Amino acid sequence: MNVSEIAEQMIIYANGNLHDIAHFLKVYAYAKIIGECEGLSEEEQKIVETAALVHDIACPLCREKYGNTDGRHQEAEGVILAEKFLTEKDLSAEILNRVVYLVGHHHTYTDVDGLDYQILLEADYLVNADESCYSKDNISNAKKKILKRRQESHCFSQFTVFHRNWTRQTL
Ligand SMILES: [Fe+2]
Repeated sequence: MNVSEIAEQMIIYANGNLHDIAHFLKVYAYAKIIGECEGLSEEEQKIVETAALVHDIACPLCREKYGNTDGRHQEAEGVILAEKFLTEKDLSAEILNRVVYLVGHHHTYTDVDGLDYQILLEADYLVNADESCYSKDNISNAKKKILKRRQESHCFSQFTVFHRNWTRQTL
């Protein structure tokens, strides 16, 4: 299956939860853009895009089972659900295993062992920062923490612009 077909399957899987659908599509868009601008290989690009689509697959289950979407629970439950969801999607074992690994670590900011991993963290963070109106300090701290393997992120920079404009508008 190509990434768009996986996206379509994921939209069906979300079963009408428009918030979740909008969230993973935004993370996917950032991941696709950042990955292509960083020159990822075809395989890495497929990994990062697929991981972006399925990274929050355990959110509905966690809300029901634990009453929240705590990162640790999400990672543990996400590994099982992502593997099940991605089986029979005609992915190579390498791609499937790496995507499942990334889902199982998407709230872990230590031992980031690849650009695909870092891009997923960055894309998810950018969408969360927008959806939850993170503070300027939170964004600049995250930028330092996440962007260890890259010089600069144009996507991240836009959040600084946003904060500058927002401050101007509220003066
Ligand atoms: Fe997310």
